[in-house]
Amino acid sequence: MAEGLVGRPVDLLICNAGVYLDKGHDIDGFPADMWAQSFATNVTGVFLTVQALLPNLRAAQGKVVILSSQMASHTRAPGGSYIYRASKAAALNLGRNLATDLRADGISVGIYHPGWVQTDMGGTQAEITVDQATDGLLCRFESLSLATTGCFETWDGQPHDY
Ligand SMILES: NC(=O)c1ccc[n+]([C@@H]2O[C@H](COP(=O)([O-])OP(=O)(O)OC[C@H]3O[C@@H](n4cnc5c(N)ncnc54)[C@H](OP(=O)(O)O)[C@@H]3O)[C@@H](O)[C@H]2O)c1
Repeated sequence: MAEGLVGRPVDLLICNAGVYLDKGHDIDGFPADMWAQSFATNVTGVFLTVQALLPNLRAAQGKVVILSSQMASHTRAPGGSYIYRASKAAALNLGRNLATDLRADGISVGIYHPGWVQTDMGGTQAEITVDQATDGLLCRFESLSLATTGCFETWDGQPHDY
């Protein structure tokens, strides 16, 4: 993707792809290959995408948004889903540190909980529709700036616990 975008400014990079492979697993159900596969998408994929598109983001003084989760929070710790929780906490940590390093380039970075959304991952019992989540998130992305860089917010604009 980065090769295809050489020389073109990118004003908004949305790091949305994610997997939740350990949903519903018991305490003994977290094998090493599941950790590796989950981190490859949820953590490494986020960082390498940002790194690869840095020239484009710098050219636009653009924004990076990372879809983390309320499950990244260590304040809220109900147990279970160890792999997904750890990967989303790592994604939150990436965003916080990228915000520090990229400020000098005029690039702002936001981290978001999209809500419990009716997608393949969220399931049909989830609390909000895709349209509700995306409408809310687009407002958040619009309001993201260097004044708010490093924020961790919910889809409806509330600051989230770390
Ligand atoms: N749904 C929720 O309630 C909820 C709550 C909190 C956080 N989130 C986060 O919100 C984001 C979107 O979740 P969702 O509910 O839309 O999940 P989803 O329904 O499972 O969709 C996941 C998306 O990620 C893509 N993807 C997965 N692995 C990938 C990879 N290795 N490379 C490229 N694309 C990949 C999938 O593409 P393919 O279709 O091509 O496989 C799919 O488009 C995720 O980061 C998730 O962790 C969701």
